[in-house]
Amino acid sequence: MSAVQSTPEVAVIGGTGFYTFLDDVREVEVDTPYGPPSAPVAVGTVPTEDGPRAVAFLPRHGQGHRFPAHSVPYRANLWALRSLGVRQVLAPCAVGGLQPELGPGTLVVPDQLVDRTTTRTQTYYDHGAVHVSFADPYCPRLRSALIDGAPGEAVDGGTLVVIDGPRFSTRAESQWYSREGWSVIGMTGHPEAILARELALCYATVALVTDLDAGVEAAEAVSHQEVLRVFAEHLGGLRDALRDVVGTLGTDRACDCPHALDGLDLPFALP
Ligand code: ADE
Repeated sequence: MSAVQSTPEVAVIGGTGFYTFLDDVREVEVDTPYGPPSAPVAVGTVPTEDGPRAVAFLPRHGQGHRFPAHSVPYRANLWALRSLGVRQVLAPCAVGGLQPELGPGTLVVPDQLVDRTTTRTQTYYDHGAVHVSFADPYCPRLRSALIDGAPGEAVDGGTLVVIDGPRFSTRAESQWYSREGWSVIGMTGHPEAILARELALCYATVALVTDLDAGVEAAEAVSHQEVLRVFAEHLGGLRDALRDVVGTLGTDRACDCPHALDGLDLPFALP
């Protein structure tokens, strides 16, 4: 890959602090059947051994954090990325730790997800009978790349609980999740994961623990200021690591994700 590719095959969905990981950025306005995405998609390049690679970046919460987690236009976001040519999505997020050993600063690459959201549209297929397998919600190839490329050691596997927010959990809720043995809790990992699967995209998340959730022994009530402080502290390392990870990803997609919709009778063509 010596010439700059203009079609981004890889995307990162993340906080606004990730913008600076791209070179030669142009902003692309995209419209979708679900309205506009959170923000114009930034398309730029990252350097790789084979030359610059085109990558898209979408700030999940939009400019100035205008969309809290429960009102992010998730369907438009994934659709917009796919329509630009994206097939692999890395989606870092901030989470609380549900186990005492998963304290602030820990990186977790979950392999499972528990959906505790109730207010979010989580499908493109409102018509017809399109039932997509979701037993293993994350792309195994992207998970391996994130684990190999994480700054320091990332925890390989674990369950991400996703709640609607915007409030944090009560102690009782959090104790329940913790007792179940689940690992981390956040507000953005779903329905992003299933919508990616419904578009046959590869998708994985790397979760940065910013706090211990309220139900973990000796934990304080979660404060938003503390979440932001810890996230800012680790943002640079995570951003640089993701830039490197992007450079290691092949485009052959030797995983099941491209086949997620095989044999299903789709009511419309994918973008
Ligand atoms: N994001 C960061 N910390 C969180 C927590 N404790 N609960 C839910 N979302 C979070």
